[in-house]
Amino acid sequence: MTQTTNVVGKPLDRVDGVAKVTGKARYAGEYPEAGLLHASVVSSTIARGRVRSIDASQALQLPGVVAVLHHANRPRISSYDDDYSDADSAEGSPFRPLFNDRVLYSGQPLALVVAESLELARHAGALVRIDYSEEPHQTDLFAVLDHTHPAPAQTPEPRGDFAGHYAQAAVRVDATYDTPIEHHNPMEPHASTVFYKAGDSLEIHDKTQGTQNCQDYLHKVFGLPKQNIRVLAAFVGGAFGSGLRPQYQLPLAVMAALHLKRSVRLALTRQQMFTFGYRPRTQQRLRLGAAADGKLLAIAHDALGQTSRFEDFTEHLVEWSGMLYRCDNVALGYRLAPLDVYTPLDMRAPGAASGVLALECAMDELACAANLDPLQLRRRNFASDNGIDGIPYSSKELLACYDQGAARFGWGKRTPKPRSMREGNQLIGWGVAGGVWEALQMKASAKACFDSCGHLTVSSATTDIGTGTYTVMTQIAADAAGVLPEDVTFLLGDSSLPTAPLQGGSFTVSSVGSAVQQACQILRTKVLELARQNFPEIAATPAENVAFAQGYLQAGKHRIAIASIVATAKDGELQVQIDAEPGAGRQPFSTATHSAVFVEVHVDEDLGTIKVMRVVSAVAAGRVVNPKTARSQILGGVVWGLGMALQEETQTDHELGRILNHNLAEYHIPVHADIADIEVMFVEEHDDIVNDLGSKGVGEIGVVGVAAAVANAVYHATGKRVRAFPITLDKVL
Ligand code: MOS
Repeated sequence: MTQTTNVVGKPLDRVDGVAKVTGKARYAGEYPEAGLLHASVVSSTIARGRVRSIDASQALQLPGVVAVLHHANRPRISSYDDDYSDADSAEGSPFRPLFNDRVLYSGQPLALVVAESLELARHAGALVRIDYSEEPHQTDLFAVLDHTHPAPAQTPEPRGDFAGHYAQAAVRVDATYDTPIEHHNPMEPHASTVFYKAGDSLEIHDKTQGTQNCQDYLHKVFGLPKQNIRVLAAFVGGAFGSGLRPQYQLPLAVMAALHLKRSVRLALTRQQMFTFGYRPRTQQRLRLGAAADGKLLAIAHDALGQTSRFEDFTEHLVEWSGMLYRCDNVALGYRLAPLDVYTPLDMRAPGAASGVLALECAMDELACAANLDPLQLRRRNFASDNGIDGIPYSSKELLACYDQGAARFGWGKRTPKPRSMREGNQLIGWGVAGGVWEALQMKASAKACFDSCGHLTVSSATTDIGTGTYTVMTQIAADAAGVLPEDVTFLLGDSSLPTAPLQGGSFTVSSVGSAVQQACQILRTKVLELARQNFPEIAATPAENVAFAQGYLQAGKHRIAIASIVATAKDGELQVQIDAEPGAGRQPFSTATHSAVFVEVHVDEDLGTIKVMRVVSAVAAGRVVNPKTARSQILGGVVWGLGMALQEETQTDHELGRILNHNLAEYHIPVHADIADIEVMFVEEHDDIVNDLGSKGVGEIGVVGVAAAVANAVYHATGKRVRAFPITLDKVL
């Protein structure tokens, strides 16, 4: 059957765009119901110890306050760690909100006030008195450098002989980089609205990246049958990993709803958005040894990350140093230090954002030490195989990223010496870095069905966290079924739909998209069979001479509207549900996306202020389904990377064991005035190995490498190498 591509690859507007900008799109905390109760969390003010007593009498005296739940009076919940684990759990014993009197971190939820209005719940929360027995705490990673243990993750075995080759190398770099804690801070705070229905049946609107993950978690924690729990997330106002695990507002809202047999909403405050997962603080030592011509001979990447006392959070922090460049002698190490804090959590390009930052800064230092252009150094060390598993990449157009990005940026006009480019008192710096992220595919299911008017409804339980999933799935479905995108409705964000993985890891297009494509292709075959039965003029036309496009079946000179074929079907006949697995063809290959990021900074010589004037990000991510939404993903990633380089830092008062800047006034992220020119380029990358779509995902590659490119540009401008992030003006002066 001929496939006519119509909309995949086109910059379609978001199909949910109008709903979003007109306020019709409802988010988890916006669903109304008469009589809905509002809950508010009372958070711990100490970092470690026990709750001696909780006095809620004053709060309960207020008319309209319905309940104050805490560990001593809460309804029954599961007591087993395992029941609290979820699809993105770290190793260990997951946090169990209101479980017992133990205080594990500052900001821990200790009581839940339920009242007739939000204002009342908050006010009543302020009247709850908690008496603690405090214990000494430790929240400072740098104070426990001697109390670390190996990360339980599979850090790749060393290959070759690092020490020997490093010792003999003509050029060496040994540098240590520090990255701070960062919080996700999506615009939409975490919220759950739990609609209680007779017989303990719950319909829940939750801010999550995985409705089925939440459903499964609630099923285990509360012992409710799964069919009694429906979790919905039609719209999600950003997440970046913060919604990969069910956060504590969900079980707390459910606990209150089951206890009171009433509908309950719980939305966290912006400050409480700093009371669960985050990107962990790291310290990373990079040792690079190279021949005089820049060929890498030895790489060691030793990282330390922080974790909680109850779980060992790990991320792919050091692997990138064993795969981005060709090198035979590699040693990777990764250790963890437990602290009296909440467990870290995956945050956009988890591991790579911090790990590649260190590697790509070290590569810049190596280029300087070897007196080579940093781009030339990277070209010279290009790897077409993934050195960690020793197998080739399915595609890797990184050299094209270097070439096309450099041409667009004008890299050839760079003078290599630091402080050699200036405009008045503005020191000008040009920096470059590479990026890499994995291109995974997970098992996913989708259902496609035509109604008698020829309208196609396709569904899967995946979410759209702002990435454009509604839109790209509509495009994939339209092309695979041969209909117009306006004749397609894509449903998602509902645990009752066909199984889908968490939206994360940049694998939604490859995973859910493959299921959607296959379901719609099979559906199209059924339409053709139906057409042959009911339209005699095409009964004899061979399948390869039939094309589906834009709502019509074209067979030779015959053109039949798909709607009129579908109208001849019996009820339920044109419905296909399929489970898509990663293709076996992927097995012999390593799959990844790559990028090259070029940055120009202006540093004020007197004030030390840094302004990023231009960014060119050249990305190789296979086939781009929607250049508009994909560009937005990369733009967002670049902005995030600029923040990572220059602004973002969660600061802790280690005396109190408590986060200091838990609000958007003091937790600095880039604002409009911080952002100048950002250009996104997708280089051509053909890959028919990853999946039939040829698509690798763009959710995370955009942030990787950006902060390193900024840091390298700052060095080029000033001659000063800042290795502790973010690069604030006090460190530059
Ligand atoms: Mo992303 S950290 O996989 O949402």
